[in-house]
Amino acid sequence: MKLFVALLAVGLPVLAAAHSWIVCTDYLENNGWYWDAAKCRAWPRNAQRYNLRDRVFGTSGGYVHRLDDHPELTPLCNDPRDDANGYQLPMAAYYLGQKVVINHPTNNHVSDAQCNMRGRADTENLMFVVDGDEDPCCIDSDKLIQIMDMGVSPYNHGDVHFSDEFLSTYPKPGFQNAPKYCEDPEDAMGTYNFTIPMDMKPGRHTFVWKWIRVPEVNPFTTCWEADVFATKAERDHHYLHTGRTTEDMWDFYEINTIVDGVIVDPVDPVDPIISG
Ligand SMILES: *[C@@H]1O[C@H](CO)[C@@H](O)[C@H](O)[C@H]1NC(C)=O
Repeated sequence: MKLFVALLAVGLPVLAAAHSWIVCTDYLENNGWYWDAAKCRAWPRNAQRYNLRDRVFGTSGGYVHRLDDHPELTPLCNDPRDDANGYQLPMAAYYLGQKVVINHPTNNHVSDAQCNMRGRADTENLMFVVDGDEDPCCIDSDKLIQIMDMGVSPYNHGDVHFSDEFLSTYPKPGFQNAPKYCEDPEDAMGTYNFTIPMDMKPGRHTFVWKWIRVPEVNPFTTCWEADVFATKAERDHHYLHTGRTTEDMWDFYEINTIVDGVIVDPVDPVDPIISG
């Protein structure tokens, strides 16, 4: 009995960690290294209830924001839609053509040779928008309209063998775009970007992220609402009105100079004294 209890106590956190979910639905930094809540200006359903902003990134806090492993038994969205009460942490606003950055914890599912992991699989990473105002029944519903295929990360399997250098190079497509994975394989941050289609009808829509790690395990999903505006000017007006920055996302690798894996200050190419 004692052994059983001990196993349970050790086993539960591991079980709770074997999943993933979207933490931020409008993140300011693409391809970033570390999570920074200050860079998140919008959140998925019930983010406050899950304490997504303030808890240590990647820890589940007793809840996991995901589709359960039995989509035939549980709804597509872990939390039912409730726009009036589900957004104590604010809802996203997007504009047509916008590149949106979202992020998620890695939960040990990255192939990176730097920490001797090469065969962690990635199978499918998709973004959908829901046709209509009601949550679709299930992952195969034709109410789910695919708006982006975010690619698949490289990993070794069967006859497929990538070089260690390739498996440790970022950015990557798919789930495993987590440059600091090996520092904390469980709770490291991975980011994706997707684009709001130009032909989307402005208005409030439900967005659904779907990740398949391996075909034998049912997909993981996160659902959220966002107000889609026709232009950036209208989106900016809305964000200003709700106390948020109107900045567009930036790319980590465009604003930082990395030398031998370390961030260095931009080097001035011309020495002003010598060039006189
Ligand atoms: C955005 O995501 C797409 C799809 O995964 C990828 O091909 C592209 O490189 C990403 N863009 C940037 C700037 O990272």
